[in-house]
Order: sequence, then structure tokens, then C-alpha cells
Amino acid sequence: MKIGVPKETFPGERRVSLVPAVLPSLTKAGFEVLVESGAGVSAAYPDQAYSEKGATVVPGRDALFSQAEIVTQVRGLGANPDAGRQDLARLRKGQVVLGLLEPLAVPQSVQDLAQTGVTAFAMELMPRITRAQSMDVLSSMATVSGYKAVLMAADTLPRMFPLLMTAAGTVSPARVFVIGAGVAGLQAIATARRLGAVVQAYDVRPAVKEQIMSLGAKFVELPLEVKDAEDKGGYAKEMDESILRRQREMMVRVLAESDVVITTAAIPGKPAPKLITADMVAGMAPGSVIVDVVADRGGNCELTRPGENVVEHDVQILGPTNLPSMVPYHASQMYSKNMAAFLLHLVKKGELQLNLEDNITCETLVARDGEVVHPAVREALGLPKQEYTEKRSK
Ligand code: NAI
Repeated sequence: MKIGVPKETFPGERRVSLVPAVLPSLTKAGFEVLVESGAGVSAAYPDQAYSEKGATVVPGRDALFSQAEIVTQVRGLGANPDAGRQDLARLRKGQVVLGLLEPLAVPQSVQDLAQTGVTAFAMELMPRITRAQSMDVLSSMATVSGYKAVLMAADTLPRMFPLLMTAAGTVSPARVFVIGAGVAGLQAIATARRLGAVVQAYDVRPAVKEQIMSLGAKFVELPLEVKDAEDKGGYAKEMDESILRRQREMMVRVLAESDVVITTAAIPGKPAPKLITADMVAGMAPGSVIVDVVADRGGNCELTRPGENVVEHDVQILGPTNLPSMVPYHASQMYSKNMAAFLLHLVKKGELQLNLEDNITCETLVARDGEVVHPAVREALGLPKQEYTEKRSK
């Protein structure tokens, strides 16, 4: 089976869906890999590196799509809503498409993909189970985001991060507060600690207290009585506005004594909770920095402008919307490992096999045979339940 790796077309996207290092594992399993010329260049993987690992470099996008039976992407249609539309005419019945598709935020894009007849898999729907850890792009990209967010903060802050005792006097360490200690937050804590900052963190899920402390950070105790903070998948549940208001009140003091605030709080499928108000920003010291890692989901700070850096009340508020793409070499390497593990999971004896009894396959499959087949995406589109989707969800 031929896998095609096109160049990403979303503005500013520098990642590539498969890097040369993963190709041997795919060719060994019977795949042949075609790469659009220049696909890896912005992530520091030149065409030659692909050829050396046995890939065929194809000069044009049309040629790549017409030869490939499987197309791997970082950003498929939903995650690349404008430029991605130009690929719709290149897709054909039976072709398999894998990538980030934003199926729940932009369900219409799944409908549009389905109409081309492709079999589409949305990588962000990968179940958070042990067996699928090696395919979990949300975790690997969140790791990159947490790391990069701290570097951006360090670069923006008019202070240094570590404690330095020098002949020119003592430099006190930066005080960093991380809100939300999931995958991105824990990596932000670890990175800030490595740079020498004094770190505090808070998460609404009490289970993470130990993880925060094991990274050398202090867990901020907020006496909020949140019952059932966590669902059975380990995610935070949406909280009442009254609890969020109390949380904001309790965080005022912590914010005022922090030089850097990294916000990563999120609830799956919902806008990011608003945890920092304009008044709270006004209470921060001049020169402080907020990096809002969930800017693309509306942001945790009410003054965040997605995709922009703003200064309000002498506080710099950064709203990056594509942090993984700012570290494209390793973000691509991790994404490719996830993608290759998923492809190897789908293929048996050189053939792609869709075993819908397997929850990794069935929970990521969104379109097939001209239809949207994922129950949650069908619901988001207002489509009736299918016998097929009912069978899948059992
Ligand atoms: P996420 O990106 O959806 O959320 C980030 C964090 O924000 C979470 O830790 C959440 O508890 C926190 N949060 C939500 N509302 C908040 C509030 N009001 N104040 C403070 N914090 C708030 O989550 P992520 O990082 O994708 O994963 C979270 C959890 O998912 C993990 O800790 C784990 O339980 C589970 N997970 C399981 C995996 C597996 O089994 N393969 C892999 C990755 C995650």
C-alpha cells in the first residue's frame, strides 16, 4: 500500500506527518512511502533524508494524491479549513485519510470529507487508554506545547529564571504559576524547574497533587469543594460558574505574587474555562507574563487574543495558537511515531483492516463509504443515528 505524505498547507504550519526515521518500520510492514517534495523542509527534514530511507519524492501535490492509497497529514480539512478545501478535489473513493480533523469543533468538514468517499480517521479522537498511548497525538503535542510555552515566557519576561548569586548581586528566581496540570501543564512545570524557577501549580483534579510535587513544584491548595472533579476517563468535568468564581477569587493572591503564569486548563469538547479576569491581570506586577496555552480554545484569561501578544495593565499576555509547530523537528518526530504506530495497528499482512470491534479503530474512524460514521460527529451534525454507528458504540 502506498502512503502519501503531502506538504502541510495551513498558514504557518511547519510540522510534517511522517519523518524519515519512521519509514523503515513502515516499509518493513509492506508500505511504500511517497513524499511531496519539500514536505519536511520546514521541520528540518530535507527530501534527501526521505530518499535515503527509501521514500519516493514526488514533485507535485496532484501526483502525490493520485498515487497514494493512504494520505497522512498533520492538519486535515477541519484543522485546515481554508487551504485544506483545495485538497477535496484530489481525494477519491476508498482512499484513506489520517490527520487532525477537528471533527467535533468543525463537524461539517467530516461531512465534506465523507462526500469524497474517503475513509477518514481523526487522530485527536484516539482513546486515552494504555494500549493507545503510543498513538496519542494529543499527549505528544501537549508535551511540546508545555515546554515551548515556558521558553516563550522566559524570553518575554524582563527577568531571569534562575537564582544567581554573583559579585554583581543576587538575582532572585522567577516565580511561575501553572494553572492546569494535565500533560501540557506537567511539562511546563518540569521545564520551568529546569530553568531554575520556583514553581507552583493548581489543578481542579486532586489526583495530580502528587505529580505536581514529584516535579519539585508546590501544589496550591484552594479550598474549593469540587465534588467529582474527574470523569471516568481521568478528565476534568465542567464546573459551575459559582465554583469558577470562587476559584478566581482564591487565585488573586497567587497571581499577584507570580512573575509568570502558564495557563493550560481545559475541559474536553468545551471552551476553556475563564480563570483570569482583567481585574486579576491588573493586580499582577508590571512586566509579568501570561502564556495562555489554550488560546485556541478561547483562552483561560479573558484578555487573551488568540494568535496575538498583547500588553494590558503592563502585563504581557501571549496567546499562541500553534505551539507544537514552533518546535517542528521534535513535534513532527513525535507526531510521526504516533502516526506510524497507528498505521501499523491498522494494517495486517500488508492489508489495511478495519476491525470495528477494536476501540482504537472504531473511535477514530469518522467517515466511510460516503457517510459520517462517528456517533458524536453525527450528533453534532444533527444526523440520525445509524444502525452501523450503534453497533460501533456497543
Ligand atoms: P486537558 O488538556 O483536557 O486539560 C488540561 C488540564 O486542565 C487537566 O489536568 C484538567 O484537570 C485541568 N483543568 C480543567 N479545569 C480546570 C480548572 N478550572 N482549574 C484548574 N485546572 C483545570 O487534559 P490532558 O492534559 O489532555 O489530560 C488530562 C488527563 O487525561 C490526564 O491527567 C490523564 O488522566 C488523562 N490522560 C490519559 C492518557 C492515557 O491513559 N493514555 C494520556 C493522556 C492523558
